[in-house]
Parts: sequence; C-alpha cells; structure tokens
Amino acid sequence: MARIIAIANQKGGVGKTTTAINLSACLAERNRKVLAVDVDPQGNTTSGLGINKNKLEKTIYEMMIGQCTLGDCLIKSDIIENLDILPSNVNLAGAEIELIGIDEREYILKQHIDEIRDNYDFIIIDCPPSLSTLTVNAMTTADTVLVPIQCEFYALEGLAQLMHTISLVKKRLNTKLRIEGVVFTMFDARTNLSLQVVENVKENLKQNIYKTIIPRNVRLAEAPSHGLPINLYDSKSAGAEGYRQLAYEVIENDEAEYFNRTELEEIKYRKR
Ligand SMILES: Nc1ncnc2c1ncn2[C@@H]1O[C@H](COP(=O)(O)OP(=O)(O)OP(=O)(O)O)[C@@H](O)[C@H]1O
Ligand SMILES: [Mg+2]
Repeated sequence: MARIIAIANQKGGVGKTTTAINLSACLAERNRKVLAVDVDPQGNTTSGLGINKNKLEKTIYEMMIGQCTLGDCLIKSDIIENLDILPSNVNLAGAEIELIGIDEREYILKQHIDEIRDNYDFIIIDCPPSLSTLTVNAMTTADTVLVPIQCEFYALEGLAQLMHTISLVKKRLNTKLRIEGVVFTMFDARTNLSLQVVENVKENLKQNIYKTIIPRNVRLAEAPSHGLPINLYDSKSAGAEGYRQLAYEVIENDEAEYFNRTELEEIKYRKR
C-alpha cells in the first residue's frame, strides 16, 4: 500500500513543485511505482513532467467535481517508467468555490485516491501556496506532510501557521497524519545566510529534518521548461544528486517504519 506524502508550505516559491517533480521521478528511478498528484491550479508539476496542461480535457478538477473518474484523467508518463500523473490546470482554481457546501468536501480527493492506493508504492501530492480547501484535501488524503523550506532570511515566517494547520487537520479530519520532515531547498554553500537559516530552523523547529539538503542549482530551474525531471535533464548535476539522495532517505524512512510495524505485529502475534 502506497505511502502518501503531501508536499506543503503556504509560502510561495519555496520549492514544493520542484520537490514534487524530482522526488517523484527519483523514486520511480529506484523502481518504485509512483503517482504524482497535482492539486495546484498552476499545474506546474503537470507541465514539469512533460504534459501539455492546456490541452487536457480531463484533469483532477473534473474528477473532484464529479464529471469524470480518476481513470479518465490519469496519465501514464511516456518519458518516465513507473510514473503516473494526476494532472491539473487553471480550471482547478474554480474548485475552491464549487466545492462550497458540498458534503465531506475535505475528503473528495481521499475518496478517489483510496481506490487506487494499492497500485503504488508512493503517492506524492503537490499543494498550492495556500492553506485552502485543496491543501486540506491533500492533507486528509496523506499519511505525512513534507515541508520544503527555502534557505532565505524569512524561512521561519509562516511555519507556525503551517504547523497549526497540520495539527488541526490531524485533530479533526485525519488522525493518522504526521510530519514526514522538513527539507531545506535552494541551499547556497557560498553564503553564510544559507548556513545560518539551516542552524536557526534546526534550533527552533522540533521536527524531523532530512539530512539531504537540496542545493541551489540552475539546472533544477531550467529542467521544467524542457518538460523533464532533473534526473533526465541533467543526470550528473548537483540538483539530480540532491533529489536522488532525498528519494533514498524517503525510501529508508518508509522501510524503517514498515519493519517496525511488522515487528510489532509479530510480537502481538506471538503473544496470542
Ligand atoms: N534548488 C533549486 N535551485 C534553483 N532553482 C530552484 C530550486 N528549487 C526551485 N527553484 C526555482 O525556484 C522557483 C520556485 O520553485 P517551485 O516552483 O518549486 O516552488 P513552489 O513552492 O512550488 O512555488 P509555488 O508556491 O508558486 O507553487 C522556480 O522557478 C524553480 O525553478
Ligand atoms: Mg508549486
């Protein structure tokens, strides 16, 4: 059964989409079956994975308002083996309003994803830069939230609000939700500021922090305009190395938890 990870931070431009695209592609490269879910009306994960978002007739929007099934809008990547995409485009911006008043509207995405969860090892959800109904839908669907933090002066701003939202969702909508961890993005080894941000966040935020730090790398910024993830665009770049390492850590965490779970089950079984 897939581990479902929502990539969220209401702050704009911190590297959510870059992480969603490249973590998905690097997990797929390691032979994991991956579904990338784009719940951002900007549709940047969709286009960054090589899909022409403006030509799509069926997207996650039509699925969420009940005009098509998940199967109707699911796209199998033809450039990345093991990767499927649930695409979005600007139409999704309308969902926010259209879902008002609909029963269980926080669980619409979950209801669809639950049906295909067993087909994947990882489901990665890219969230928009807001704490909107769409982000809440991602958090009710997910097992964990991965928070990218940009190495810049205002890094901590808004984090308290994000943590508060996650704990509210956990309390009211999805009791099993956990924080996957924090990953630093756009780290610039040439500046003291990047280092200070990392130290400062580590001191102030009592969360799991990934050992992998994603460097600032121009190849990561170029890749989306070619519709390619970094491991295909420039396999030897520092950006590709970074996201490969992150994928490795995510797999390690997942496996460690899995073995803990099975060990626990075994102990319970022996006690019977
Ligand atoms: N490690 C990096 N090195 C260089 N450029 C990067 C890196 N990560 C992201 N970028 C660039 O920074 C910009 C913002 O990144 P991205 O779109 O991933 O952020 P986001 O959090 O998804 O933004 P939004 O909040 O608008 O959805 C993009 O132009 C992207 O190409
Ligand atoms: Mg984005």
